[in-house]
Amino acid sequence: VPDGDAAKSLAVIEDLYRWMLELGLNRSDTLVGLGGGALTDAAGFAAATYLRGVEAIYVPTTVLGAVDAAIGGKTGVNLDGKNLVGAFRHPARVVIDVDVLDRLPDEVKRGGLAEALKAGLIGDPALVGLLEAHGPAADLAEVVRRAVAVKAAVVGRDFTEQGERAHLNYGHTIGHAVEVAAGLGHGEAVAIGMVAAGRAAAVEVGFTDEARQTAAIAGLGLPVGAPGLGRDEVLALVGRDKKRDAAGLRMVLLEAIGSPLVRHVGSATVGAALDAIDIA
Ligand SMILES: NC(=O)c1ccc[n+]([C@@H]2O[C@H](COP(=O)([O-])OP(=O)(O)OC[C@H]3O[C@@H](n4cnc5c(N)ncnc54)[C@H](O)[C@@H]3O)[C@@H](O)[C@H]2O)c1
Ligand SMILES: [Zn+2]
Repeated sequence: VPDGDAAKSLAVIEDLYRWMLELGLNRSDTLVGLGGGALTDAAGFAAATYLRGVEAIYVPTTVLGAVDAAIGGKTGVNLDGKNLVGAFRHPARVVIDVDVLDRLPDEVKRGGLAEALKAGLIGDPALVGLLEAHGPAADLAEVVRRAVAVKAAVVGRDFTEQGERAHLNYGHTIGHAVEVAAGLGHGEAVAIGMVAAGRAAAVEVGFTDEARQTAAIAGLGLPVGAPGLGRDEVLALVGRDKKRDAAGLRMVLLEAIGSPLVRHVGSATVGAALDAIDIA
């Protein structure tokens, strides 16, 4: 399949169906998806729908794939927008070879560590401590194990995203806007989004570990600001986000490390959050 998100298209899925037909795969067979998050999302969708569903095994080869995309049963492809077509279906198992992840180029690994840190911030203070103390040199097996455990626990309680699963979007509301506006990688943008969310949390719910969180992000070699972006452009992108509803912008905030909550926030808080990431 093509590299990256180009794999997540219905045309590629059709090719996969035909290939499985040619191979004579039946209901008792298993599709193995080996690759980054884009690959496992596409393979998972093909497996979820071929013959109304065959088993899938994921072998994620990026940190982001291992701690995020492969876990939680969201499969899918892009249409005009990202992930607009898909199915909720868990793989039969996920096999992670940490030695492979350890040899990733630094910039690919960093993006995944941003999501691992996010998992710690919403559900595992000890994971935050590990990344704080050792930065990118933290024991990857332990980091991956802990981050997977956080996501699996949240998804186990809220598979279809009725409530708690939204906590996994910590840093993503403003992060997505920055990702689009700056053309940054997802993990980098989420890192910046978490800095912004940390400020919003300080303003709204008295989060006292904002500086500590920012230091942990910087310690992973991730960006903590997006100077040079236009405030109006970012605000417009934030406003277009699907996390906005009639009552205003819904953001995931932290009362403390490990204690997330969802709040509607007003424009003063969003303004303070953008100040925190140097968007003037
Ligand atoms: N299903 C979910 O819940 C979920 C959650 C988060 C993200 N995602 C999806 O995951 C995708 C992002 O995942 P990603 O960051 O892994 O991106 P990706 O799959 O595009 O991989 C990033 C790049 O790394 C390369 N790569 C993969 N493994 C490698 C290896 N071992 N060594 C060197 N290069 C390697 C890929 O070929 C690609 O060029 C997006 O499509 C996103 O929507 C899904
Ligand atoms: Zn993400």
